[in-house]
Amino acid sequence: MIGNQNSARRETVSAFQKARAGAGEFLEASNMPNALNSDGCVMMCGTRDDLAIIKDSEVQLVIWERELSADLRTWLEQLRPAELPDLRVLTAPKDLPKALHSAFENDVLPGQNMRDLLVKDIHLLVSKFAAITGNTLVDVRLERISHDACWKFHFDAVEKRLLTTYRGPNTEWIRPENSTEALRKQRDYSGPIESLNHNDVAIFKGSRGETGMGIVHRSPPIENTGFTRLLLCLNAPSIVSPEPWLQSQKG
Ligand SMILES: [Fe+2]
Repeated sequence: MIGNQNSARRETVSAFQKARAGAGEFLEASNMPNALNSDGCVMMCGTRDDLAIIKDSEVQLVIWERELSADLRTWLEQLRPAELPDLRVLTAPKDLPKALHSAFENDVLPGQNMRDLLVKDIHLLVSKFAAITGNTLVDVRLERISHDACWKFHFDAVEKRLLTTYRGPNTEWIRPENSTEALRKQRDYSGPIESLNHNDVAIFKGSRGETGMGIVHRSPPIENTGFTRLLLCLNAPSIVSPEPWLQSQKG
């Protein structure tokens, strides 16, 4: 059962915003005070810049509701699963376009114009994530997924993680009041499950965030459905990151 996330999205100026209107920090940063929409520790926003609200200690999940260009969406949908990229690079935002183009050429990803659009979109997200987390390098995973992946409800062992699904079913998440039950019951959990919408960009806090918990979520179960997802996952560098892309090129 998918919960009614849209009810939260229909709210107008929230108590959260009102409480912070005096401080002005985020509202000045976004310049769009009416674009933010909250539901407790979960915030909906209307611009890429608004994603920075995840830096607030009370916010555990921020979701930028956005549309990709129809051309890019159609191209991604029409690619054969084997043509979808599947890569991981640790890179500075300024080197990301080169790193991606290089990987795409190795994968023989067709459609130069659409590839450029995809690289541009990922570049903007990587730059924003680096600015929000204060990291000079970002661990970029662009994953082709045709199985259930992380189907169990879980927290990520990170401080912050950015996710967006370019193709296929979207990441599912659980409101905090239902987290304990979902973690305990897993496949037997029958409570409400929220889902990101197509092309939403979300930054989740994980177990290394301020509360030590974050937002419970899972990959949508897709095994045997015929779907192949294309997921972008951005993380701060860690011990499991590859060596920085630029160094690997100088190798
Ligand atoms: Fe996760």
